Amino acid sequence: MGTAVITGGTDGIGRELAREYLRRGFDVLVVGRSRQKGRAFTDSGERARFVAADLSLVAENRRLLEQISQRYPVIDVLVLGARYHRSTRTVTPEGFETNFALFYLSRFLLGHGLTGPLSRAEHPVVLNFGAAGQTGPIRWDDLQLERDYHGVRAMGHAGRLNDLAGLDFADRYATTGIRYVLNHPGVVVTSFAGEYDPVTAAQIDHLRVIGKPVTTAAAQILPFLEPANREPLTAVLEGRRVPLEPGLWKLGDARRLHDVTMRLLTG
Ligand SMILES: NC(=O)c1ccc[n+]([C@@H]2O[C@H](COP(=O)([O-])OP(=O)(O)OC[C@H]3O[C@@H](n4cnc5c(N)ncnc54)[C@H](OP(=O)(O)O)[C@@H]3O)[C@@H](O)[C@H]2O)c1
Repeated sequence: MGTAVITGGTDGIGRELAREYLRRGFDVLVVGRSRQKGRAFTDSGERARFVAADLSLVAENRRLLEQISQRYPVIDVLVLGARYHRSTRTVTPEGFETNFALFYLSRFLLGHGLTGPLSRAEHPVVLNFGAAGQTGPIRWDDLQLERDYHGVRAMGHAGRLNDLAGLDFADRYATTGIRYVLNHPGVVVTSFAGEYDPVTAAQIDHLRVIGKPVTTAAAQILPFLEPANREPLTAVLEGRRVPLEPGLWKLGDARRLHDVTMRLLTG
């Protein structure tokens, strides 16, 4: 049928998408940290696979890339969905701000690193959870938010970085046929994985009341992943296509972010 690789596929929206692709007959590999959650997924059938990895670490992303490339010569669907909220700024042992590392760098590495297997698929698609044009400017002088860190804003900022990463990706690999979908699902009741200060924890409790179920979020995303779609880049907000306004979606900014990121990774 096909192969789907889903980071953050052990919980929340990612898990719902993983279950749906299993139902459709795909081989599905989910990636997360918790082996217990991984086992719960692999128990659902022989086409369900799990790899444990801490994707906030560049080295773990590179190890994962090797494993995946050896095992899956063709990937039809790549979902980049791992996230973890931190109210307090932390830095990984490799020196990156943790949210930047998990929510942006990992997705950058896996997207670029899997273009080989993706480009061998008939209708390949990457789904990344970005801001879909919904948040403010990039902090070019402080990409890892050393000043005025706030957990919620950090996730919004990383979402915007992912928007630009998608724009660059779609342009860079235009000839491969790999489509890139950036999705903002709205408020969805998930595990909301993270470490929250009391104020943010209270906000999350509220979101658990007003949010939509993961089944609704998945139903709003899946149509945009279908082969019938043709655009190289699609931004989606809660099931609606968002116009790529030139003022916000600047290819020059996207290339600049790509270059800065490459320097961070090789420096
Ligand atoms: N829920 C919402 O309201 C909402 C709103 C806007 C955007 N989104 C976006 O939608 C996507 C899915 O979010 P969600 O709320 O469904 O997620 P979630 O329920 O919080 O689940 C997070 C997933 O990420 C994995 N994960 C966390 N830290 C990891 C790490 N260091 N390495 C590898 N995996 C890690 C978790 O696995 P383990 O537990 O095994 O670590 C889990 O599978 C995210 O990109 C999120 O930003 C969600």
